[in-house]
Amino acid sequence: MATLYLDQNYLSGIAKRKPAFAELEPVLRVAVAAGAIEVLESRVHELESRPRPDLGLLELLRDLSKGRRLPDELDRPAREVKRRLNWVIEHELPERRARPSDAADLEALALALTHCDLVTCDTFMADVVKRARLHLRHRADVFSGRRGDVLRLREIIEATRTRLGAATRAPPSGAADRFDMSHNELHETAKALVAPGKGILAADESDTTIQRRFDAIMLESTEELRCAYREILFTTPGVGEFISGVILFDETIRQSASDGTPFPELLAARGLIPGAKVDHGQHRLALTEHETITEGLDGLRDRLDEYRGLGARFAKWRATYSITDRLPSDYCIWVNAHALARYAALCQEAGLVPIVEPEVLQDGAHTIERSYHVTSRVLDAVYTELFDQRVDVFGTLLKPNMVLSGYDATDRAGVAEVADRTLECFYKHVPAGVPGIVFLSGGQSDEDATAHLNAMNATGPHPWELSFSYGRALQGQALRAWDGEWANAEAAQRAYRHRAKMNSTARTGAYTSAMEREAAAG
Ligand code: 13P
Repeated sequence: MATLYLDQNYLSGIAKRKPAFAELEPVLRVAVAAGAIEVLESRVHELESRPRPDLGLLELLRDLSKGRRLPDELDRPAREVKRRLNWVIEHELPERRARPSDAADLEALALALTHCDLVTCDTFMADVVKRARLHLRHRADVFSGRRGDVLRLREIIEATRTRLGAATRAPPSGAADRFDMSHNELHETAKALVAPGKGILAADESDTTIQRRFDAIMLESTEELRCAYREILFTTPGVGEFISGVILFDETIRQSASDGTPFPELLAARGLIPGAKVDHGQHRLALTEHETITEGLDGLRDRLDEYRGLGARFAKWRATYSITDRLPSDYCIWVNAHALARYAALCQEAGLVPIVEPEVLQDGAHTIERSYHVTSRVLDAVYTELFDQRVDVFGTLLKPNMVLSGYDATDRAGVAEVADRTLECFYKHVPAGVPGIVFLSGGQSDEDATAHLNAMNATGPHPWELSFSYGRALQGQALRAWDGEWANAEAAQRAYRHRAKMNSTARTGAYTSAMEREAAAG
């Protein structure tokens, strides 16, 4: 059974027997009688029918709905959708901003979009929905009052009735079940990773990357030292208040602390969710000179099962894109998006939350506009592939770059501009259903990474949690403080805990640079 929300346009079109609507009505009545379509009422119908009781709109609606209705209050998914629709109106259609009559309409529309399969609305709202790129889990089909849309709806209703027939007069499907996520482990894990005030520690440096990090403190990268360094981070007291999960490299997820406890077990016992980096790194993309493709899909299904067995509950796959005047190419953008989606689909089958990490590298002298443009193209491709490959975005997290001026640009954008451009890009390209965006730090200074995150959260709430999954920006100071000596373990832990706390504070928009000085003085 499909659920249908009929807005006031449609009801009055039927009541006034306007041509397209008069064609729709008998088809609709047959489908309702056959149990193939369920019509839902909303609180707004009562409000909006009041001025024209002569049209009998409410009676017509009751006749079709038999009193079944949408919830009166907005639930969480509907709140997110409403926020996003509002954002589109404010930023893209500002001439409509002042209309108070939109508020109730928007609420009804947000509820309809999250609870119904077929949703009708006026032409303006249909445009807003299109621009908002909601990508709902089961995307509602939206119909404006244009004749073409009314006829299209009629065809769909007829096809639904023919397909389902009276034989499937099953108990109501309860569209609301689609958003009842309490029993879905993937959704719960994704939400837990972006729980209020918490972010993720990326401690999944590959052998070559950790070698680079150790080079900076003139330390040889041996297995013992890598293990010791990670043990210091993972056993930092009190960090569970700020950190939700830790991403581990293949070697680390198989290592144990000095008391013999395997790292995934040690983390889980401290309330931290273990995750695994599962890609095999970036390799030159065939027939290009300077672009990369991330490898690691062959055999991934079995490896994911193994990681889950070792205790991982989420995974990470990173794709990278360089910015020049000509790059990245569409070729590079789409093959990486395809691979990210194949990885994400396999993760969900294996019961792991995929962290989808398309990183637009910010090396170079490009402007913030260029970064915005490239990041937009990349995200657009990534979400197209994720949807095409049936990935449930409610059970994913996005790990993107922030939209920055290139590190070598002369006139680099400040904190407020970075926050604005980054948010604008995500509002346009990241579905509202994604529970969280966990930024990478990507070579920003520790304090910049914190200040940017803070500025974005200061203008919230947003449809997704905005959090962090930093590597360098959480570990840089700790690594220097450790300097390869057990004796410095406490100083390293203090440095890591401090950065974790600063970024946790940035999740609420309450961070100030004075906090850094206070901590240094204390
Ligand atoms: P950075 O925060 O150092 O960019 O690392 C995050 C990460 O995991 C990159 O894949």
